[in-house]
Amino acid sequence: MDYKSLISGKLKGNTDIYLIGVFADKKLTHLNKSVSEITLKLIKKCIDDNNFTGDIGDNRTFDDLENKFQITLFGLGTKEKFGPISFSRSISLIIKKIEMTNAKSLSLNIDNIISNKLAISAEFIVSSIENSFYKYSHKKDKVVSKIKECNFISKNAISSKSFNKSVSIGKAIASGIGLAKDLGNTPPNICTPTYLSAEAIKLKKINKLIKITVLNEAKMKSLGMGSLLSVSQGSKQPAKLVSIEYMPLKNKAPIVLVGKGITFDTGGISLKPSPNMDEMKFDMSGAGSVIGTMKAVAEMNIKTNVVGIIACAENMPGSQATRPGDVVTSMSGITIEILNTDAEGRLVLCDALTYAKKYKPRYMLDMATLTGACLVGLGKYPSGLFSNSEKLAGLIKKSADKTGDRVWQLPLYDDYFKELKTNFADIQNIGGRYGGAITAAAFLAKFTEGIDWAHLDIAGTAWEVGENKGSTGRPVSLLIDFILSNQ
Ligand code: BES
Ligand code: MN
Ligand code: ZN
Repeated sequence: MDYKSLISGKLKGNTDIYLIGVFADKKLTHLNKSVSEITLKLIKKCIDDNNFTGDIGDNRTFDDLENKFQITLFGLGTKEKFGPISFSRSISLIIKKIEMTNAKSLSLNIDNIISNKLAISAEFIVSSIENSFYKYSHKKDKVVSKIKECNFISKNAISSKSFNKSVSIGKAIASGIGLAKDLGNTPPNICTPTYLSAEAIKLKKINKLIKITVLNEAKMKSLGMGSLLSVSQGSKQPAKLVSIEYMPLKNKAPIVLVGKGITFDTGGISLKPSPNMDEMKFDMSGAGSVIGTMKAVAEMNIKTNVVGIIACAENMPGSQATRPGDVVTSMSGITIEILNTDAEGRLVLCDALTYAKKYKPRYMLDMATLTGACLVGLGKYPSGLFSNSEKLAGLIKKSADKTGDRVWQLPLYDDYFKELKTNFADIQNIGGRYGGAITAAAFLAKFTEGIDWAHLDIAGTAWEVGENKGSTGRPVSLLIDFILSNQ
């Protein structure tokens, strides 16, 4: 889709639909001269008659015969609650409606959306619009929309340089989110560890600064990754540890992103119950978010060092699978007693985190659909946030607020670490009955000492269930904002 920035009044005959976002206070001050007088009267009457509420999802369309376009009012909800979440919801609802018409050209009035008080940026608007067109296609054919252009209408002209930059960033964000969604939605017989490594390799085509290293099982064995390899040993699918380097600068410590890539989680010998087990194809969403973020980084050509690492394996109950009671040695040397083979995410991540240390990260973030307990505790709206650095946690919260990709921090008190003690190894892979999301994070913290590290438990946020079942692409937008804000 093409984006242009125009000043209002230049729209006559040049667009099919002129979109006007209206708050629940129904003020139309920003409409000024871009609409014919007679249409403005009709709009005002409609509002006076209470036929339009300004609620999210509400919309009304009017013909502006003089200007040869249609005007669509769409609700933005209340000003008090306005932000990235309500904006992306309202724009996506109206775009889905317009997609059912023959409109090819849209124009969006941005005067009441981009303002200092309401922190919605042009790149956020672009990425929200682009995301509204996302559709999973199992045939992998590109879904093309009839809508070809979108004009941003404002009474003050935006400099074309800064506008074009915002557009390209917005598009890169949406493309990263789209890839993360596609990877999550791809069925688990196709989206295997090997498939994910091939998807990472594809990123080289976007930017020649991208370097990929794929470690196979033999290589991982030689590095001592006994914990990661214990997860794949029950499956026919070989594990892959992939590192995606984007290092345009010589002497700058990178931001390192690590993703859990369990392409299907049966639970292993600690087998999961059957209902909804299909959802465990999304158990690679952490890795998907890393690949998606690295795609956006490659497309944006940014000037900071970022490394993405994905730990990919399938957790199956084959005859070679680990048993509860098995003890394995991780790359760090820490020995682990596996008491529950369904707590496999931490087993692949601990070796990936140890491996990641070789990059001497400035910040290390891991993303994982790690625990059902996180879903129980926080529900489906925020990701769980854990960190050994209050500074890093603060930076992540900032990016979460800006993007609407919400997080909620949970504690890592010393007490939780005691629950990982066992008589048979250095640590065990599960804690006690309570606080499962935290004991899982505490397990990971054992492998990240000395590094500013944060863990995002995305068990509740990475995919939606019900009639809109599918990957959300979270937390790609948070990660991209974090990288852009901390270059
Ligand atoms: N991938 C699951 C976590 C999960 C479950 C995410 C349901 C989203 C929805 C993870 O590997 C797992 O099975 N965790 C166990 C840990 C337990 C055995 C300590 C869990 O949460 O039950
Ligand atoms: Mn599991
Ligand atoms: Zn899992």
